[in-house]
Amino acid sequence: MRIYVAKDYHDMSRKAANIVSAQVIMKPNCVLGLATGSTPEGIYAQLIDWYNKGDIDFSSVKSVNLDEYKGLPRESDQSYYYYMNEHFFKGINIRPENTHIPNGMEPDSEKECARYNRVIESVGGIDLQILGIGANGHIGFNEPGEAFEKETHCVALTESTIEANSRFFENRDDVPRYAYSMGIKSIMQAKKILLVASGAGKADAMYAALCGPITPAVPASILQLHNDVTVVADGAALSKIQ
Ligand code: F6R
Repeated sequence: MRIYVAKDYHDMSRKAANIVSAQVIMKPNCVLGLATGSTPEGIYAQLIDWYNKGDIDFSSVKSVNLDEYKGLPRESDQSYYYYMNEHFFKGINIRPENTHIPNGMEPDSEKECARYNRVIESVGGIDLQILGIGANGHIGFNEPGEAFEKETHCVALTESTIEANSRFFENRDDVPRYAYSMGIKSIMQAKKILLVASGAGKADAMYAALCGPITPAVPASILQLHNDVTVVADGAALSKIQ
């Protein structure tokens, strides 16, 4: 595991974007595993900037997103479909048919999870997976639990995640209670993982994930078993480790 300490959020975003950019340049038809949330926004903005300068070409890149709220239509400005278009896809030349996100409007969880597992398989696995981390140690929407969920599954979001994500919604009651999430096995099968974190609110989770025991109570702790993880985080997020 390589850990890069960034000066601040902007520096974290640039360092992480450099790693994504190198992946796309080295393998133009690579598969990127993408995350939503506040943390990667700066990475996507930086990549759009480099795309506009002619430095990166996404025309052969495929993407699979980690998760999506269940029950939110794509047009909802809180859906991850909407987020990805707003923050990334509409600013680059990735082909819409090469982007994949779980379908939050499929009410049949079993059907949607099976479909998404097939999607991950059909793109040939993930070359580089970008991950944020929840304050409770979740990755994707793999919430703390008693066992690692291997494949795509429907998750009941924990109170702490609902609370954390309520900042994006008008009312706390509007936060969906369920989500579809890629499983730990699919994440761990990514060839490379890029974990990004910023701010003191992530310090405990980062400590538990990187230095604590490997346990489904801290889903991100499984990353200790992956052989190609790069962490880019600011000093505040790493303050319990340094
Ligand atoms: C979202 C995702 C989540 C977030 C995590 C941190 O696709 O995978 O695990 O990465 O909730 O979110 P932020 O970056 O908003 O703190």
